[in-house]
Amino acid sequence: MHPLQSAAAGPLCGTVSVPGDKSISHRALLLAAMAIGETEIEGLLAADDVRRTAAALRGLGVEIIEGGGVWRLHGVGVGGLAEPDDVLDFGNSGTGARLTAGLLATHPFTSFLTGDASLRRRPMARIVQPLAEMGARFVGRSGSRLPLSVLGTSEPMPISYTLPVASAQVKSAVLLAGLNAPGRTRVIEPVPTRDHTERLLRHFGVPLRTDTGPDGRRIVELEGQPEIHARNLAVPSDPSSGAFLAAAALLVPGSEITLRRLGANPLRTGFYATLAEMGASLDWQAPREEGGEPVADLHVQASSLKAVDVPAARAPSMIDEYPVLAVVAAAAEGTTVLNGLAELRVKESDRLAAIAAGLRACGVEVEEGEDRLAIHGQGGRLVGGGKVHTQMDHRIAMAFLTFGMAAERPVQIDDGAMIDTSFPGFVDLMNGIGARITGPGA
Ligand code: S3P
Repeated sequence: MHPLQSAAAGPLCGTVSVPGDKSISHRALLLAAMAIGETEIEGLLAADDVRRTAAALRGLGVEIIEGGGVWRLHGVGVGGLAEPDDVLDFGNSGTGARLTAGLLATHPFTSFLTGDASLRRRPMARIVQPLAEMGARFVGRSGSRLPLSVLGTSEPMPISYTLPVASAQVKSAVLLAGLNAPGRTRVIEPVPTRDHTERLLRHFGVPLRTDTGPDGRRIVELEGQPEIHARNLAVPSDPSSGAFLAAAALLVPGSEITLRRLGANPLRTGFYATLAEMGASLDWQAPREEGGEPVADLHVQASSLKAVDVPAARAPSMIDEYPVLAVVAAAAEGTTVLNGLAELRVKESDRLAAIAAGLRACGVEVEEGEDRLAIHGQGGRLVGGGKVHTQMDHRIAMAFLTFGMAAERPVQIDDGAMIDTSFPGFVDLMNGIGARITGPGA
């Protein structure tokens, strides 16, 4: 346990870069592993979650060298992974476990996957079902939860799969499995989710067809067993990590910050669209494209905010930002209602319950429904003073440290250790621009 306390901050000022995008980093490693030749990746998120995926790939025979801020991979080509001689441990990372399971499903050997207490609680049936249709077999605990063995198939079958839940991880697992299946693999998404896998596949030269139907359903199709050639890439800064800084700057009076080279993929920016609706001063400067992904520099100034209703349809584009949006809503004028939150119950923690409990501990009135939250904003005045249980969830930890920066009384969290899974250096970066986070080792 690594308790931390966050006390009222002075104005937060500066131009900063948050670490690389977690979703893109996992995918960059997995696709570079499937390429032939050496790929250099700059800006990869060097955090525990991504390191677990790198370690798993090393266990599967991929050579990976890290040095001077650059990661070099010697890819083994599509279908070229080798049977690992030990269990693959994905730590806290759902993305790492689910996406790697996709690749493994169409490699003809058996692997064993596990993770930490949080990951072992998370549902895996959502990937097991389509991957079993492709010919893989699985032995897991109830709900196919980890530890899970993947018995990859030697005769993979391409499938056409309609996602029953809006999940980029499930979509990506099927597409990655489809890479080593002969013929056309198709994923149909009723609601579009982050498209980093598709963009990276294109970056690596894999022909991909995407189409949006009149009903808004998105179809993604790839032809299996392509030859993928190594191609260098740079990972943008993570908009989900930037969300904590943007929120802090909005809530702490007098703040003004710029987040450099922030990922601006429209399927990831629902949080920022919501902030704009609440009256936030946000300015996306110098929009450009890097490595197939939109990026921009985001300028944020402290603002007074009003409550909004956030529609369920926006959830996939801001799924990881609800903890910090809830903190912003607590400071706004009026009652903010967040809808369509069922998936939050199966994240690194039951995030819906963790958000509600944390807000209550900090003096905020909140109503928790099965898949919605109503947060009674305090009109710019946050009380704080609570002790928050983070439940092994990095985003709950960072959201409530952000709360403390704008509150009258310091907020304590029981454990900040998990922050390193997605945002190494969070405490130093925040303190460097004016926050006051303290604790053993802070
Ligand atoms: C991710 C997708 C989302 C998100 C997770 C990262 C990804 O999960 O919550 O942090 O990289 O594909 P789901 O696919 O379960 O919605």
